[in-house]
This record gives sequence, structure tokens and C-alpha cells, in this order.
Amino acid sequence: MEKKLVIAIDGYSSCGKSTFAKAIARELNYIYIDSGAMYRAVTLYCLRKGLIGRKSIDIDGIKNALKEIHINFIYNPDTGEYETWLNSENVESEIRNIEVSDFVSRISQVPEVRTRMVELQRQIGVFKGVVMDGRDIGTVVFPDADIKIFMTASIDVRAERRYRELRMKGQEVDYQEIKRNITERDRADETRAISPLKKADDAVILDNSEMSVEDQMRWIREIISEKKNAGRNR
Ligand code: DC
Repeated sequence: MEKKLVIAIDGYSSCGKSTFAKAIARELNYIYIDSGAMYRAVTLYCLRKGLIGRKSIDIDGIKNALKEIHINFIYNPDTGEYETWLNSENVESEIRNIEVSDFVSRISQVPEVRTRMVELQRQIGVFKGVVMDGRDIGTVVFPDADIKIFMTASIDVRAERRYRELRMKGQEVDYQEIKRNITERDRADETRAISPLKKADDAVILDNSEMSVEDQMRWIREIISEKKNAGRNR
């Protein structure tokens, strides 16, 4: 039987991790998990319940809420994509809005939130054949992943891509606000005490500032076939 791989993709905000991860999963027929969507869903829940505000955060309330938060990825045949559900509601679109983006870094710093999300992420990867993207996948969630990629791109390229993506979805957004949000999230993700965003020692860097998705696929195909062959020859 062909060796199934765990592929971990980490990196900065809005550098196309999910587009790339989805394309890989589609090609290999693997499961794709957007770990950022899980932190976003928890953030949405906390915002709705008033557990976090500009100047306040109710840590005990958030810890208790974790029991009530059920996150699923459900296939939507209309879009051909997996979408994020929070309890019994499709929140795929809402978790991408700027309000959730503004609060998600603070929620993802809460240790109990991280412990719970990592536990869920590992359960999903247990059968292998998974592509997961996030900030700590290669360092914490799957330190033994078969392939680890660390993605980056220039801040202007990233802000422009996010701006276009949100405009395409019909959201009224401001370019400077998006750039500010991305810069701030990078800073918060890199400097937080627990599981900060950081390249795993054995990760390969991919700067896709000037690469198309097809360029990136050509690049990863070689890495995948090397890994699969190494598995076969063992
Ligand atoms: O990938 P994203 O931009 O949708 O992620 C949203 C936020 O979630 C990101 O700013 C930091 C947090 N996150 C995290 O802390 N760990 C992960 N594995 C994935 C996301």
C-alpha cells in the first residue's frame, strides 16, 4: 500500500497557505484541515457570548465555553470545498470577517484553547493522509510530520491577495486596514509565549511572493515523490 503522509504547512498570515494546502490535498486525495479556521470559530463563539471585548477577556468563561464548542468541517457539494461549522451552523464566511481577524490572536493565546485545538487536530491526523495548515503544525501538532513547509511572502503581496479575496466575496474592506491586521497578527503570533509561529528546524522554506499556485505545485510534487520513494525503499 502507498505510504500516506502528514504534510504540515505553517507560515505568516495570508500568504496562501490554505490555497496551497487545499491544492495538495485535492491532488493526493488527502484530508485538508484549516487549523486557523478552528481558532477563528472559537473566537466567533467568544465574541457572540461577550467573552472578549476590546479591553476585556473572560478567561474562565472561555475555558468553560470550550465544552460547548463543537467544530466540524463539512463538505459542500456546491462549492466542492469543506466548510467550517460551529455547533450546527455554517460559519465559513463569518469567521473570515475583519472583526474575528482582529480578535483571533488574543483567543489563540489562551493556553486551554490551544490544548483543546491541538487535541482535536491530532485526532484528525491519526489516520494519516492529511494536509494541515497553521502556525504550529510542524513544531507542536505534528512534530513528526513527513513533510514540513514554512511559507512566507512579502507583506504587500499578502495584503493585496487578502484584499482581493475579501472583495471577491463582496466584503467592504479597506486595504490599509487589512495590511495593519496582517502585520499585527504576525507580530502577535511570533511573540506569544505558547507555541509561537516559528519555522521547525526541519521545515523547508517557501517564499511564494512571485510564484503561482501551479509553480508551487511543481515544487512540492518533487518533495512528495522523494518522500514516497524514501518510504518505499525503507
Ligand atoms: O490561518 P489564519 O490566518 O486563518 O489563522 C487565524 C489565527 O489563528 C492566526 O492569526 C493565529 C491563529 N492560529 C494559531 O494560533 N495556530 C494555528 N495553528 C493556526 C492559527
